[in-house]
Amino acid sequence: MADQYAQFSEDNRPGEIPAIRWDEPPEGPVLVLLDQTRLPAEEVELVCTDASALVEAIRSLAVRGAPLLGIAGAYGVALAAVRGFDVDGAAASLAGARPTAVNLSYGVRRAQQAHLAVLRAGGDQEQAAGAALAAARALHREDAEASGRMAVHGLALLDELLPGGNHRVLTHCNTGALVSGGEGTAFAVALAAHRAGRLRRLWVDETRPLLQGARLTSYEAARAGMAYTLLTDNAAGSLFSAGEVDAVLVGADRIAADGSVANKVGSYPLAVLARYHHVPFIVVAPLTTVDPDTPNGASIEVEQRASHEVTEITAPLVPVAGGEAGGAIPLAPLGTQAYNPAFDVTPPELVTAIVTEEGVVSPVTVEALAELCDRSRQV
Ligand code: MRU
Repeated sequence: MADQYAQFSEDNRPGEIPAIRWDEPPEGPVLVLLDQTRLPAEEVELVCTDASALVEAIRSLAVRGAPLLGIAGAYGVALAAVRGFDVDGAAASLAGARPTAVNLSYGVRRAQQAHLAVLRAGGDQEQAAGAALAAARALHREDAEASGRMAVHGLALLDELLPGGNHRVLTHCNTGALVSGGEGTAFAVALAAHRAGRLRRLWVDETRPLLQGARLTSYEAARAGMAYTLLTDNAAGSLFSAGEVDAVLVGADRIAADGSVANKVGSYPLAVLARYHHVPFIVVAPLTTVDPDTPNGASIEVEQRASHEVTEITAPLVPVAGGEAGGAIPLAPLGTQAYNPAFDVTPPELVTAIVTEEGVVSPVTVEALAELCDRSRQV
């Protein structure tokens, strides 16, 4: 199995794999996703011809990660419009596919509003569909640009907090090109440090239960030639206590107005550990992840997922190249119920800084976050 992995990563290191792309084959427009449930064993594309296929892909995490969910949601509305389906129905089901990442409803709304604006102005269905697609493409492009700017701000912050370079950074879940129009959020900062010769090691939490760290972040780090080491989530404490972590970099699915950060479950314990060990805990996210309408952490809806994700491991998550889908290996006795929140919420007082494309908020306060959002709206 190890050989298969080595072979796989050697073969695939060069070149880009877009996580999402719009295509227009003769049979009609489609949204093509890289099926993230099959990585790293296989690079398999998933072709969505309608919004319901995309909703299923979102629920199964074939497409995932906050910024990419926003982009996918916008393209999903465009797909419904271009193919002549019910746009408002598609928008409602896409926006409700997962509740926590606010980017999803933002992306859906943006394409839906572009569509509606054309119809209200007397345009026809084709023009309205064109506007929805243009909105999706604009969001895709803007997210790529935001990613580049977050990397610049984030690296400057790391250098300021940790003079001398040689950073050892711990990250959780997956926040690279697989979740973004560009190179990602937290991962993009680590990548910038790597390219600048200032990343000594990327510590990658495996991220139970769906292993986004082990399967996806390791995949991205290997492709980028970064020095990385995978650890079980439970091993983070001993890593901190050994003095091996200089900073924690994570993304976010929703940032409330008070600076509370919802991110992949396991982020909050890292923030607690980081505070105890005097290590900066840095959140990197585009402004599309900040939700001024969510006042605080308690108001964030945290997605609860099925027990079986914890109680069994199911192909294609079984990391065997060419593995057949559907085979489940039990990890607990049949009938065991699991507590399986997809996210947790870190209070603002444990967050050293929030890095966005428009700059850094530190310390994290309601006022500082609101000021940054206002400033970006004026640009
Ligand atoms: O359940 P997932 O895999 O969609 O969760 C993703 C995360 O929690 C990421 O850390 C978050 O979306 C930030 S990605 C830029």
